[in-house]
Amino acid sequence: MTDRYCVFGNPIGHSKSPTIHAAFARQTSEDMSYEAVLAPLDDFVATVRRFIDAGGRGANVTVPFKEEAYRLASRHTPRAELAGAVNTLAFSRDGILGDNTDGVGMMHDITINLGIPIAGKRVLLLGAGGAARGVVGPLLDARPASLVIANRTEAKTHVLAKHFKALGTVSGSDLPDLAGQQFDIVINATSASLDGTMPDLPEGIFAPGSLAYKMMYGQRDTPFEIFARNQGVGTFSDGLGMLVEQAAEAFYLWRGVRPEGLPVLAMLRGA
Ligand code: ATR
Repeated sequence: MTDRYCVFGNPIGHSKSPTIHAAFARQTSEDMSYEAVLAPLDDFVATVRRFIDAGGRGANVTVPFKEEAYRLASRHTPRAELAGAVNTLAFSRDGILGDNTDGVGMMHDITINLGIPIAGKRVLLLGAGGAARGVVGPLLDARPASLVIANRTEAKTHVLAKHFKALGTVSGSDLPDLAGQQFDIVINATSASLDGTMPDLPEGIFAPGSLAYKMMYGQRDTPFEIFARNQGVGTFSDGLGMLVEQAAEAFYLWRGVRPEGLPVLAMLRGA
């Protein structure tokens, strides 16, 4: 019988994950199906259990269920434990394993697909929610010169910086205090782009040749993209590469084979 997988989210209508995983399955000749499932906001756990009862082998989890998925999992990988958020679930007789492939997917996209090293760079991470939490550990593992976490609600940045301080040079900040500083890599992990806004950033924060990276793939020409381009950013990335690479890592967890992300990224860009 074909193994079943899915992505749970709300909303989920425009998800590219079924297309990405279908392409991975073709590429690796794995016998599996993958669908998008709309989970009601107040019924995530029961929706997952129904999918397991119907023979589901694994799932991705997207906005707004990543922290609920963390609580649902009976075991976690170390990187999911560190992030406190789960984007990948694997179901077996032993229970529900929770993993987080967002960080490793983003790192693969930045350092390999875009060819931009992180070691020695000044990195700014915008946002302090679940998405930001998932990438702090992998970012610090890559040894940036510094990592500043800035958020509209400043207090959350200090909680995050303290949680990760054993792993590297990391500090919290509010947005106005970024004025006068420059960064080589600016990662937008806020959900602001989903409602067509952006964090209130001061001008002049993009160093010459810098990278602006949007973690949440969605609309084009968001205020963050327009701002970054007007400020003379060197490279802008819309998050599609991260979406593909976090999916490749989830596929690897489930199937034991790691698909190539770049051909699938090229297919999506062409479509
Ligand atoms: P997720 O799990 O997707 O990260 P979340 O935990 O709700 O979602 O976090 C959303 C993040 O986006 C937060 O950092 C939030 O800032 P606050 O902590 O101040 O709420 C940020 N965010 C959302 N909309 C924003 C906006 N319009 N401007 C600036 N930051 C915004």
